[in-house]
Amino acid sequence: MATRVRAVMCSAVNDDIGSVRLSEVELDEPAAGEVQVRLKACAVNFPDLLMIQGKYQFKPPLPFAPGGEAAGDVVACGTGAERFKPGDRVIVSVRYGGFAEALNVPESAVRPLPGNMDYAAAASYQTAYLTAYVALYRRGSLQRGETLLVHGATGGVGMAAVDLGKWMGATVIATGGTDEKLTVVQSRGADHVINYTRADGSLGGFREQVKALTGGRGADVIYDPVGGDVFDESMRCVNWGGRILTIGFTSGRWPQAPVNLILIKQIAVIGVRAGEYGRRDPERGRENEDALFAMAAAGDINPYISHALPLEQAVEAMRLLEHRQVIGKAVITMNGYTPPAGSVDNKNNR
Ligand SMILES: NC(=O)c1ccc[n+]([C@@H]2O[C@H](COP(=O)([O-])OP(=O)(O)OC[C@H]3O[C@@H](n4cnc5c(N)ncnc54)[C@H](OP(=O)(O)O)[C@@H]3O)[C@@H](O)[C@H]2O)c1
Repeated sequence: MATRVRAVMCSAVNDDIGSVRLSEVELDEPAAGEVQVRLKACAVNFPDLLMIQGKYQFKPPLPFAPGGEAAGDVVACGTGAERFKPGDRVIVSVRYGGFAEALNVPESAVRPLPGNMDYAAAASYQTAYLTAYVALYRRGSLQRGETLLVHGATGGVGMAAVDLGKWMGATVIATGGTDEKLTVVQSRGADHVINYTRADGSLGGFREQVKALTGGRGADVIYDPVGGDVFDESMRCVNWGGRILTIGFTSGRWPQAPVNLILIKQIAVIGVRAGEYGRRDPERGRENEDALFAMAAAGDINPYISHALPLEQAVEAMRLLEHRQVIGKAVITMNGYTPPAGSVDNKNNR
């Protein structure tokens, strides 16, 4: 029997992310091969905002609820969906649909919740750590002892790269926009932090500091979710034979790579698309997810969550991300779930 659930719906693409509405929608019983998951938490990611604005490479059919990574409990299983049973605690990985009290997903999009992770952490780790893992391990071949420069290290995919970079034995230099946010990054193990905000608000000024910290050589691997001026300056502080990993363009500008510098320094500028990597190479994709799942189950992945807001405040949560007020991750919570004390920055756990 169909039920009614609340979901944050985008009915038309709009530059203003505040155009989405909390609505009641009909949810059918799970179809063959699907499970129905009653959600407890869903992470807020930059692509959620871009999808509402019609600026993401993948455009969901309208209307849709944003939200790609979530955690909750299985409540029903469709015919042939036999890997899970009602009551199982699970994580869900989809392209959209997670800003909702419940959703139906193919069984293949569901995994058991890793170890003793709470729902908020479980909802927060998948995209960020998969992106960092595919970038640093698969695409960047980061080696123990190398110097890794992580830009936007205060954000979701950036902080995951700091964590994994340290785990892989690199010396990590992390950049971010405010000293307050960088204090958190340093507390998570970054060896050096640099505030890349100039007095006029533009980003840059890290080049000389990176050179000074690396004996003049520059960073071996640069992980860049910011782009724009940050990418341009990175070209000037990358080591001979280094790799620049292009992750995203939160600065709002796609930079142009100067081919002369690529030649002169014999560097590689490498594109990273973590989700597409697994779609095009499902076997490797599963290996990536299994590796991260094992780390999460062992307690080696603990995403920093600065904000937890209820579903009704989904727009506010997205605005925090839009205005660079989130540190690490923000999550939306549903069905009365409150993350356990200590798992979210105390002042922001609503
Ligand atoms: N390639 C992939 O496979 C992949 C996968 C997931 C995400 N991404 C992309 O990676 C990027 C970061 O995602 P995320 O989830 O980490 O986002 P996030 O949590 O919002 O972090 C982005 C960071 O970028 C910095 N930033 C600098 N200029 C900014 C600006 N004008 N607006 C917003 N942030 C700015 C912010 O740090 P400061 O405020 O400290 O400067 C912020 O912490 C996005 O472009 C996303 O689409 C790519």
